[in-house]
Amino acid sequence: MPARLIDGTAIGDRLRAELQTEIRGLRDRGVTPGLAAVLVGDNPASATYVRMKGKACEDAGLYHETMRLPRETSETELLAVVDRLNADPKIHGILVQLPLPKQIHTPRVLQRVAPGKDVDGFHPENVGKVFVGDPTGFRPATPYGVQQLLLRSDIDTTGRHAVIVGRSTIVGRPMAALLLQDGPGGNATVTVCHSRTRDIKSVTRQADILIVAMGKPEFVTGDMIKPGAVVIDVGTNRVEDPTTKTGSRLVGDVKFAEAVQVAGAITPVPGGVGPMTITMLLCNTVQAARQCLTA
Ligand code: GUN
Repeated sequence: MPARLIDGTAIGDRLRAELQTEIRGLRDRGVTPGLAAVLVGDNPASATYVRMKGKACEDAGLYHETMRLPRETSETELLAVVDRLNADPKIHGILVQLPLPKQIHTPRVLQRVAPGKDVDGFHPENVGKVFVGDPTGFRPATPYGVQQLLLRSDIDTTGRHAVIVGRSTIVGRPMAALLLQDGPGGNATVTVCHSRTRDIKSVTRQADILIVAMGKPEFVTGDMIKPGAVVIDVGTNRVEDPTTKTGSRLVGDVKFAEAVQVAGAITPVPGGVGPMTITMLLCNTVQAARQCLTA
């Protein structure tokens, strides 16, 4: 029997509807959560993501601003923009869209964002809080979204072996921290694989929950999955396909047609993890506004 599909679009819609209650509550207290996105250069994928984030804010009734800066922007100029946003009381959350152009040292910029406004969860203070399980820390949107998908699909992580493929600071590492936490959506036994892992298939085949975030189109094939496992595909890769109207299509890091025959439950691409990430960014912005009120 093919795997159950985990519908990120439906779960994301439900979460955003629930968030409305809190947004209304904040508005009653005179606060409209505000998000600022900073986009440097003209990377088309980044421009699309930032547009989608702005639209999601509008749809949810959040205030938002997008700062578009030219590709040649210096680090000093970018830091000045971050400083301005740090001081702006209308803005509760700041995200600097990555990747940044080469002349800019990314860690210096990410560390300049006020930790209380760092809704991406990339500042070392939030990385540390997430690692120790402090709920005031901001959880990076993608792993936070994966955890919500599991929780809201009634997939118990307790005592299960979760194998994460990919050790990025945006997904793999914070994903491991979330799954290790003592509480709902945590308590897993966690293994992180990466490009230097030997005999990766022998590890992925041990996974009760397999989370794939390595950015390699269709890397995980059916024979790498334990029958009945939960498979979460974080990848979004555009590959050429002359049979389609546009000449290309989106695929994940998992070979879906094979995996769906082996797994017990699986996220599709698109429509799985993708719709959750922007939802979690909205949740983090609301969290930032709430924490700002109580600070
Ligand atoms: N680029 C790719 N993913 C992300 C993300 O989650 N946040 C930001 N700011 N940039 C990204």
